[in-house]
Amino acid sequence: MNHFTRRQFLEAGAAFTTLSTFRLDALANGPVSLRAHAAAKGIAFGSSFSTSYMSDAAYTQLIADQCCILVPEIELKWAALRPSPTAFDFNRADALCKFASTRNMLFRGHTLVWEQSLPSWFEGYVTSSNVERVMTNHIASVVGHYAGKISSWDVVNEAIQVEDGRADGLKVTPWLRLFGPGYIETAFRVAHEADPKAILVYNENWIEAEDQGSERKRRAVLSFLTQLKKKNVPVHGLGIQSHIHADMKVTGPNLRRFLQEVEDLGLSILITELDFNDQRLPGDVPTRDRLVAERYEIYLTFLLQFKSVKTILTWGLSDRYTWRSYVSKRADGLPVRPLPYDADLKPTLSWEAIARAFDGASQR
Ligand code: G3I
Repeated sequence: MNHFTRRQFLEAGAAFTTLSTFRLDALANGPVSLRAHAAAKGIAFGSSFSTSYMSDAAYTQLIADQCCILVPEIELKWAALRPSPTAFDFNRADALCKFASTRNMLFRGHTLVWEQSLPSWFEGYVTSSNVERVMTNHIASVVGHYAGKISSWDVVNEAIQVEDGRADGLKVTPWLRLFGPGYIETAFRVAHEADPKAILVYNENWIEAEDQGSERKRRAVLSFLTQLKKKNVPVHGLGIQSHIHADMKVTGPNLRRFLQEVEDLGLSILITELDFNDQRLPGDVPTRDRLVAERYEIYLTFLLQFKSVKTILTWGLSDRYTWRSYVSKRADGLPVRPLPYDADLKPTLSWEAIARAFDGASQR
């Protein structure tokens, strides 16, 4: 079998836009992994992970076995990287980068500009006079530190919120208030300068469902991306987070049209944080697992009809470690089961559903 080392893969500028030209199966790590099922079709499968899970050897091994891409859950956020306005602490993110590299995984960056997970010094220190310098210095330093090692970056995260009432649909965040709407364009340009080979992604939530609110948000995202492209801003992909209520309809004509429009803009589509919220499903585990698995298969099969969808990441791999265990608690007190492995690290029906969706996808 042809074998590409991770370095060759990156040096060749493979990243995500050109995954299809490479033998992704060389990164498959064995025949029975999700990464192998995905790689056989030119799709990159991965998950978020955190240094706080690295003491769990079995889980760490599972991540390396199953994933072809690793994304830090918190280590690249400002609160983790920036102990003070003048300092950077790359230790934890570097540990994840090394783990990804030694275990033959690509490494993704999340996220450079977000209004959450900011350090406590941010408010009070950052003003409209210094915000541009603070933001551009952060982006240039962090992207520069990982240049050639991070294949794609979530440059700006969750910047649109139609309910905030602005004509451009932008969410009113500290970045917007202090910098003005140009912060997004600047962020992409500075990131591109710091690593011209990295794939730069705009990452957004709540744009999957068929309801009117989601549709309004999709329209705002599309119009915003269209303007960025017109201005030749270096944005290469849209990240669709896909934190989805398992009882919501998400595979309808509105989403289909939107995916086509994004594809027509020439953007890659990355599914960046997939998990299904089982909070409102029946408690009975076999029933719940069957329903969640069905959602995975239906959603992924729908998405994978689009050739620009080449990257699928779940937000965690096992119910042992999921943000949903503290934000999506069930009324009956039962543990949540949103991911392809249960809390005992046993594959669930969702694992099989995801594998089947990859098997049924056309070649990238
Ligand atoms: O670990 C404790 C937990 O025991 C406690 O119950 C909980 C109560 O709030 O706090 C937990 O610590 C949290 C920490 O991550 C460890 O997981 C922090 O409060 C929390 O601020 C931090 O949360 C992260 C959050 O982003 C904010 O950065 C989550 O782990 C992470 O999964 C979440 O990820 C986001 C993406 O970045 C963007 N899209 C949505 C996604 C889910 O919110």
